[in-house]
Amino acid sequence: MSQLENSITLYEKYGGENTIKALVESFYDRVLKDPELAPVFEKVDMGPLKRHQALFISQALGGPKQYDGRDLSEAHRGLAITNGQFDRVSAHLGDAMAGLGVSEEDIATIGSIVSALRGQVVSAEPLASGLPEPEAPALDPPGAAPVEPPAQSAGGTGGGGNLYEKLGGEHTIKTVVDIFYRRVLGDAALAPVFQGVDMGNLKRHQALFISQALGGPKQYDGRSMSEAHRRLAITGAQFDAVAGHLVGALRELEVGQADIDTIVAVVSPLKDEIVQTLFQRWLRAG
Ligand code: HEM
Ligand code: HEM
Repeated sequence: MSQLENSITLYEKYGGENTIKALVESFYDRVLKDPELAPVFEKVDMGPLKRHQALFISQALGGPKQYDGRDLSEAHRGLAITNGQFDRVSAHLGDAMAGLGVSEEDIATIGSIVSALRGQVVSAEPLASGLPEPEAPALDPPGAAPVEPPAQSAGGTGGGGNLYEKLGGEHTIKTVVDIFYRRVLGDAALAPVFQGVDMGNLKRHQALFISQALGGPKQYDGRSMSEAHRRLAITGAQFDAVAGHLVGALRELEVGQADIDTIVAVVSPLKDEIVQTLFQRWLRAG
């Protein structure tokens, strides 16, 4: 989506490849010193993991090289990672960035990107932290006061307010989604992809997805991005066009450029999951 970025990427701003490498070293130092996390990495060959993580972070921050590892749900599926572990890893990443002099604002931006990945990384718990946990042991005698659901975690590394609230919450997101799909369906190159799709349902899922990614309280309950888009054979150009309409919708609502950049940074890393390579599309056609 480089044509959407009218400013320098975070990758360039902080010194590119060398900084990312230093970040990854400091990040895994912290992770491996954390007794709640170290056992998960016991049998992992840290060399290739560091290389993949560096590529992944570089790409997410606008670097030139492409991540070539597994998709995140595949890489983490067997690990039964909990929300608590995810929060700790996110916090170590935040601390590692702070240690390298990354600004608080940029740490918050990157925190939003990382938060959006929670659903792909955590597999040990239901994601619905706003709902009572279905398999929570019934410790309370019948008739006891209802147990409060656990407070929503701040979501990743960011501390203070989130973008969801800043932009005006549910109402704004719904408006963004309406304008976004009006633009998408008005684009002759994209409209055919949505033929036969139940737009009411899609809008509801999209609003939930975006809300959650921006730190909203409700949880997305749809399919994973790779699952939802697999049959569609989406090209890189279509992805860029859709992302462009999202930016257009945000501009129509006069969302500030810095916040638009944050949202673009949240959406960009999904490209890998949504777009099918030429080879995948060829297999599908064949
Ligand atoms: C915070 C967001 C996270 C991101 C962006 C992330 C990213 C990645 C990446 C890029 C890989 C390499 C995949 C590959 O080599 O194909 C990976 C693997 C791995 N991640 Fe994460 N990860 C995250 C969270 C976590 C958490 C919370 C844990 C555990 C507490 C974890 C544990 C692991 C392990 C053990 C591997 C190696 C798996 C293997 O080699 O089989 N990750 N991660
Ligand atoms: C920019 C990043 C994108 C995000 C965040 C996104 C998000 C979503 C979400 C949340 C759903 C609902 C999944 C479900 O209901 O289980 C969905 C479905 C869908 N998306 Fe995307 N999408 C993106 C890009 C695209 C692109 C580039 C296209 C095509 C040009 C596309 C076409 C569709 C279609 C047609 C469906 C409905 C699939 C069905 O009902 O079978 N999306 N997307």
